Amino acid sequence: MPHSEEHLLAKSRDYVWNDDFLAQMAKRLKLKSCTNILDVGAGIGHWTKKIAKLVAKNANIYALDQEPQWTQQSFETIPNKNATQNFQFINGNVYNLPFEDNYFDLTTCQTLLLHLANPVLALKEMLRVTKSGGLILLSEPENFKNYFYYDNLNKNRLVEDILAMAKFWILFERGKIIHALGNNSPCSYLLFQLAKLNVTNINIYQNDKVQTLYPPYHTIEQQILIEELKVNLARFSEPEQYQIAQNFYLAGGGNITEFKATLEIIKTDIQKCLKAIEDKEYANVTGLAVNLISAQKL
Ligand SMILES: C[S@@+](CC[C@H](N)C(=O)[O-])C[C@H]1O[C@@H](n2cnc3c(N)ncnc32)[C@H](O)[C@@H]1O
Repeated sequence: MPHSEEHLLAKSRDYVWNDDFLAQMAKRLKLKSCTNILDVGAGIGHWTKKIAKLVAKNANIYALDQEPQWTQQSFETIPNKNATQNFQFINGNVYNLPFEDNYFDLTTCQTLLLHLANPVLALKEMLRVTKSGGLILLSEPENFKNYFYYDNLNKNRLVEDILAMAKFWILFERGKIIHALGNNSPCSYLLFQLAKLNVTNINIYQNDKVQTLYPPYHTIEQQILIEELKVNLARFSEPEQYQIAQNFYLAGGGNITEFKATLEIIKTDIQKCLKAIEDKEYANVTGLAVNLISAQKL
C-alpha cells in the first residue's frame, strides 16, 4: 500500500532509472549548463544524487524537504560526493519556498507532486523561483499503468480476479484524491495544469527502466523487489494501513464486502507469486512507469 515514508526508504528507488537514459535526457535538456539547482521534496536524496551527476560540475545544489529527519539524513550521506559541487540541505515547504524569485536554472522534484493536495500551487511556487528561460523538471510516476501487471502466472488467474485487483487500485487511487492526499497517477493532470502556466517547450519522456524477476533471482535489484513483495503482503495485515486502504476504497466508490473480498484475492495472489519465486517458477516484467516532464519558464 502506498505510504510515503516506506516509499522513500524503499531500496528499489535506486533502480527507477537507467543512468544512460538520464544522461541522454540531460543532453536533450542541456542540463550541463545549469549551475543553480533546487530539488524540492528531496527526501533522503535519491533524485538529488542523480541530478547532481547531470548538471554543471561547479553547480550549487539545494535539496529541500519539509521533514527535518530527511534533510539531516541527506546532509549526512550526500555532501562532498563531488567536491566541485556545493550542496545545501534545507527544511522548507514547496508551497512557500525560501528563495527569491528567478533564482534557479533548474527546479526539479521526484515523486513529490503525487503526494500533494495542491500540486498546482506547488508548480507555481517552483516556477516563481526558477529563472526566466530556466527549466522545471518533474519526475512523477504513472501508477495506473502498473495496475494490470502481467507475469507468467497470469494465464492461471481468473479474469474476474484480474479485474477485481485492478479495480481495487483504481478505487484506492480515486479515494486518495477525494481525501486530498494526492494522486498516484498525476501526470496527465500535471501536464494539463502546467500548460496553463507561464511556460513553453513542454516535453515528456517515459523512463526506459524495466524491473524484471526471473530465476534464479540473484541480482541485488531482484532481491530487493522480492523483499518488497513480502513487505507489501505484511502491510495488508497492519491495522493502520488496512484502515487507510479501506477508507480510500470506500471513498473511491467501492463497498465494504467487495473491499474485503478483493483484499483476500490480492493477498492470495502475492502468496502465490512468492511461492512460485521459491520454486524458481516465476517471471515478471514490470515497468515502473515514471515520466520526466520538463518545461521552460517564459
Ligand atoms: C516519496 S518522497 C520522494 C523523495 C525524493 N524526491 C526521492 O525521489 O526519493 C516525497 C518527499 O516529499 C516530501 N514532502 C511532502 N510534502 C512536502 C511539502 N509540502 N514540501 C516539501 N517537501 C514535502 C516528503 O517529506 C518526502 O521526503
